[in-house]
Amino acid sequence: MSDESLLQELAELRQKIAYHNYLYHTLDQPEISDFEYDQLFNRLKAIEAEHPELITPDSPTQKIGGQISEKFKKVTHPAPILSLANGFGSQDVLAWYERILRLDPRVAQTDFLLEPKLDGLTVVLHYDNGIFSLGATRGDGIVGEDITANLRTIPSLPLRIPVLPTGSPAPQHIVFRGEAFITKADFLALNAELERRGEKTYLNPRNTAAGSLRQLDPAITASRPLKLFLYQVVESSDPLPQTQSGILDYIASFGLPVNPLRWHAKNIDEVIQICEKEGLNRHDWPYDADGIVIKINDLQLSNSLGYVGKDPRGSLAYKYPGEEVETTLLDIQVNVGRTGVLTPLAVLEPVSIGGVVVKQATLHNFDFIADKDLRIGDRVLVKRAGEVIPYIVAALKERRDGSQKVYVPPTNCPSCGSQVKRASGEVAWYCLNAACPAQLTRNIENFASRSAMDIAGLGEQTVAQLVQSGLVKNLPDLYRLTKDQLLTLDKFGEKKADNLLAAIQASKSQSLQRLIIGLGIKGIGEVAARKLAQKYGNLDALSHATLDELQQLEGVGPNLAQSIVEWFQLENNQQILRQFRELGLWPVESTSTPVGRLPLTGLTFVVTGTLEGFSREGISKFILANGGKVSESVSSKTSYLVLGANPGSKYDKARQLGVPIISEQQLRELAAP
Ligand code: IVH
Repeated sequence: MSDESLLQELAELRQKIAYHNYLYHTLDQPEISDFEYDQLFNRLKAIEAEHPELITPDSPTQKIGGQISEKFKKVTHPAPILSLANGFGSQDVLAWYERILRLDPRVAQTDFLLEPKLDGLTVVLHYDNGIFSLGATRGDGIVGEDITANLRTIPSLPLRIPVLPTGSPAPQHIVFRGEAFITKADFLALNAELERRGEKTYLNPRNTAAGSLRQLDPAITASRPLKLFLYQVVESSDPLPQTQSGILDYIASFGLPVNPLRWHAKNIDEVIQICEKEGLNRHDWPYDADGIVIKINDLQLSNSLGYVGKDPRGSLAYKYPGEEVETTLLDIQVNVGRTGVLTPLAVLEPVSIGGVVVKQATLHNFDFIADKDLRIGDRVLVKRAGEVIPYIVAALKERRDGSQKVYVPPTNCPSCGSQVKRASGEVAWYCLNAACPAQLTRNIENFASRSAMDIAGLGEQTVAQLVQSGLVKNLPDLYRLTKDQLLTLDKFGEKKADNLLAAIQASKSQSLQRLIIGLGIKGIGEVAARKLAQKYGNLDALSHATLDELQQLEGVGPNLAQSIVEWFQLENNQQILRQFRELGLWPVESTSTPVGRLPLTGLTFVVTGTLEGFSREGISKFILANGGKVSESVSSKTSYLVLGANPGSKYDKARQLGVPIISEQQLRELAAP
């Protein structure tokens, strides 16, 4: 592959992933399955593994840290180093507040602490008997890289605490979390110096900080103007202050660097006021900050709220809008998603925004294009805020020269050619053809994915071949494939055909939970599928479930309930179910309600790491008491890995095998009848 097309693919992958992250985490409206997301992510990881020099700090792999360079030793963090959910504007702050208030009424009484959200590199620092003993990057939040030698070179990082003999005595063991960064002024001076020496300059302070800490030669790190602010205690052998403001003072009492800039808010109105007012000054702050972190000051309350994915509920990052640049709208492409939604995508003349080359922007839907009167060939303003995919702010109409073309949305699906329709009350246009190749392809990919039917050999390419050749027109067709048919396909020999057929047949014995995931009902995840399988026992019973009934189930909200009911209402889907039954794909589970059957019956668990609410023996008893089995080692038969802090090799094994990983809390949810 040429350098240019590789760079382009990288840029596109990163943008797509960032976009889907945004849809999933911020808007809660995913357009693609986890499987499709994983495929994008794995492709990006594969390219980056081959070309580590092309990894950018803002690559999605770096966000969750995916890559762990072989050059540094791995370090398992004593507790997961969590991320933060993002909010844009006061509405998101209020929505967050209301969500957590519903979870715990004590939220109404809490105060908040606000801190600048530094745009640097997260570091985890261990002190044993007051001596700086280990420093690590965040990595994937569970395992990071040992960069002790580099961190030691940071002038403001004391190698021994307390720094002053009058400071608080150091606990026997304490681990801090903070952010390493480079100030704007230092960055400019460093770049000027690099330029003078004829060396490569850096794109922005964050790149520089990250690059400097990942140097193999600590002497280079030492020459970089790195600074550090700490804001969290990850673990300590001593009791800790109960508030975030207390923690900051406590950290400072050892002589460790803490950001002097912070705000205290008595209530959520003050929080919003501060975010709105202080943000106006952020360009005067000495370092780059892309937002303000809002933290519930009462740490016991904050921790008790738990987390969603990698984001603690007790904190929110209030992000400021990003930089705007001008470029040309070259074209508008249309993608067809699994549910048939047509999504327009802007193809832009490549332009650098905040050090990242942008070639595409989301256009949301066709109304958006019409509302903004975007024309092909227009000069447009493009904006990028944090990790969100760039979007078009406006067309520069005064710059038109008559060559711009008004965009006409397609009346037919770009994949199958059938007429597109708009659902009443929705802005989205849909391709309603259930046999649309684009939709079908996405659907089969989801069906065959690891968390669903786990059919080995049915990857993206094979699925595309099966759909394009017309051999598979719906999910049940998979089970009707013959060897002769497969042998007509490119790159299919006897062995490959036999293997695929065997894998497809074997999938008939998969659990009901997996089949439910495989159906591709919008919004269904592993825990919800498990609940549904337990409650209804077979697809026929599930297809008769009412909205009310579904909403009674833990983990099933009104949107999911609606989407389940709608899915089963479609005649097409009913036909698919009938065919599954005829083909012998009909997993049945005895339902949880009758006495005698327990919620975890049939499930095998492996536990790793230190748990918060259980001892090792305690959790085994809990699982056994609820009908489950406990095993010591992870295998393909493991139903779930329960993950605690400081996990061992079982965690790596589970990830390798694609075993679902759940938290203590999720285990409790599974067991809740
Ligand atoms: S608190 C559970 N405070 O922003 C605690 N994070 O986008 C979560 N960050 O990964 C982090 N400044 O590396 C916190 N004052 C601050 C921060 C901060 C920068 C980073 C942090 C986090 C990222 C999330």
